[in-house]
This record gives sequence, structure tokens and C-alpha cells, in this order.
Amino acid sequence: MTKEFKWSDEYSVGIDEIDEQHKTLFTLINRLHQAIMHREGSAACVGILNELVDYTRIHFSLEQTLMRVGGYPEYEKHCGLHKALVDEVEALQQKIASGQAAISFELLQFLRNWLTRHILGEDMKYGMFFKQHGQLQQQNVDDWTEQSRDAMSKHKKKSSWWKFW
Ligand SMILES: [Fe+2]
Ligand SMILES: [Fe+2]
Repeated sequence: MTKEFKWSDEYSVGIDEIDEQHKTLFTLINRLHQAIMHREGSAACVGILNELVDYTRIHFSLEQTLMRVGGYPEYEKHCGLHKALVDEVEALQQKIASGQAAISFELLQFLRNWLTRHILGEDMKYGMFFKQHGQLQQQNVDDWTEQSRDAMSKHKKKSSWWKFW
């Protein structure tokens, strides 16, 4: 049986708000783990998976804004990777909806890898870039953080996931 997915400092990209959003993604994956373990049923599992995908979409778009305002040279490439990740998980959602796949521990493992490989492999790169080049001015980060929190709190209000978490 898979264990809880724990956050550790190795996942930190050095930007607090990004780390907070990544932690929420971990929390959602753990919530899905619990739902599978306690056999909460497919409707509950699908609901959590949908929330994970919605939250991921918002996170990606906020991350892209940050990379753009920070002048990150691999911005285009990173956007392409985000798109590929979303396509991959959307294909999975469709398979589940049509009964070709079920929400299982294997799927959970896939989602964990999907998330951690991207954070450790790609998000870390812009984190390092910003640290080394100092191109991300504090004012940009502060403005972006404010924008992000606003977007996330709007999402929180309309999302059902937050109600039972
Ligand atoms: Fe990313
Ligand atoms: Fe990210």
C-alpha cells in the first residue's frame, strides 16, 4: 500500500507562494489516496481528481505569469510541458468517464510521478534561474503573489473540495 505523500524541502523552488500551491497539490493527491483506501466510491474519487486537475490548471497559469514577468528564458518550453501534462491527465479523465480506466493505486502512483517529476525536474530550473540571476524583482514577486492569492481564493469559494476538506 502506498504511503502518504510527504512534502519535504527538496521540493522547494524558493518562492513561498509557489511552494504553497505545490503543497496543495500534494494535499489533493493525499486526499485521493484516502478516498481510495477508505473505498469512498468512484463519485468521490472522480470529484477529487477533477479538483486536482482544476487546481493544477490554475497553478500552471499562475506559474506561467510568474515566469513571464521574471523574464525566464525557457518560458515557452515550460508552457509546452504544462500543456502536455494537462493533456495527459485529461485523457485519463476521459478514460475514467468512459469506463476504460478506474481510479486505483496505480493511477495514484502515476499522478505522484506526474507531479514530482515536473516539480523536481522543471519547476526547480526556474527557481534556480531566479536565484542566480536575480531577474525576478521583489516587486514583481509581491504583485504576482497578491494576484495568485486572489485567484486561489476565488477558486476556493466555488470549489466543493474545500468544503469537505
Ligand atoms: Fe511548472
Ligand atoms: Fe509548479
